[in-house]
Amino acid sequence: MNQMAQHILEEGSISDADFARIAGLVREMMGIDLQPHKRTMVASRLSKRLRATGYDTVDGYIDYMLSAQGQDEKTRFVSAYTTNMTRFNREGHHFEQLANDILPDLMNQARKGKRVRIWSAGCSSGEEPYGLAFNVLDACPEAGDLDVKILATDIDTEILATAKRGVYPASSTGTLPNGQGDKYFMPVDRSGERRSVNDKVRDLISFRRLNLHGEWPFTGKFDIIMCRNVAIYFDAPTQSRLWQRFGEQLCQNGLLFIGHSEGIGPEHAELFTMVGRGVFSTDTSRVGNNKSNATLHMGNIQ
Ligand SMILES: C[S@@+](CC[C@H](N)C(=O)[O-])C[C@H]1O[C@@H](n2cnc3c(N)ncnc32)[C@H](O)[C@@H]1O
Repeated sequence: MNQMAQHILEEGSISDADFARIAGLVREMMGIDLQPHKRTMVASRLSKRLRATGYDTVDGYIDYMLSAQGQDEKTRFVSAYTTNMTRFNREGHHFEQLANDILPDLMNQARKGKRVRIWSAGCSSGEEPYGLAFNVLDACPEAGDLDVKILATDIDTEILATAKRGVYPASSTGTLPNGQGDKYFMPVDRSGERRSVNDKVRDLISFRRLNLHGEWPFTGKFDIIMCRNVAIYFDAPTQSRLWQRFGEQLCQNGLLFIGHSEGIGPEHAELFTMVGRGVFSTDTSRVGNNKSNATLHMGNIQ
């Protein structure tokens, strides 16, 4: 093993050049902005991958990872630099707003034949899209028989596999409101310590790998996009481009939900009006009926 690899492994540190190379690749591939304070994390995750693949130089490892033979390693590289932290009913006020103000009307429209599409973008291990499905089913138990679909996407195929499994510790479902933890789960073992979402929930959701920083293969538009605690990891131009693309991907009265530490800049006031904490409508006549009003309103959330 050469000196550089040893240095990474032993001290959890990384040279400026190697950090810059990894950070550049992560930005190019995923849009994620690895700030200098992430150096120790990068060194530790990189050293694990070097150990696992047997490469003793960062350059050798990267060449392999980017080669045709390195496809599996590329998947692991992506997983290594994503942050998958999530939980059921995270930022519960969003689910309350959906349950009280949005889904009753949307589901009534679905009953009359409207096509309803909801997208959880950056769904991690699935708690967010399943939470959406619970609320859809609360509002409309027969949603599975209507043209109602939830798309759940993430760049990280490893976490997506966990999401598809839909099996969680029973203790993690305790934060769910309205008895959802009992209604939409079934025990998977005798102890009852792990629970699986039921088929009614599964049938509403399609899980797909999708890089938000790449091409989107959609033909239709969405009524609701939930993309929370994802853009926070992107740099400002990448975030701005994402808000623009979400605006274009939403229906006329569509809604975008973002995380509490994320903000949409006033340059997008033509596209969105804020209609709740971290909730934006593409109907810009809804709150403040002129552009300057909307700009002011959105300026407040920066
Ligand atoms: C912190 S989790 C947020 C999960 C959930 N939305 C929530 O708020 O609880 C961020 C997720 O975004 C995903 N992600 C990061 N960069 C991405 C990209 N370029 N395209 C798609 N997903 C990405 C990560 O893999 C991770 O699962």
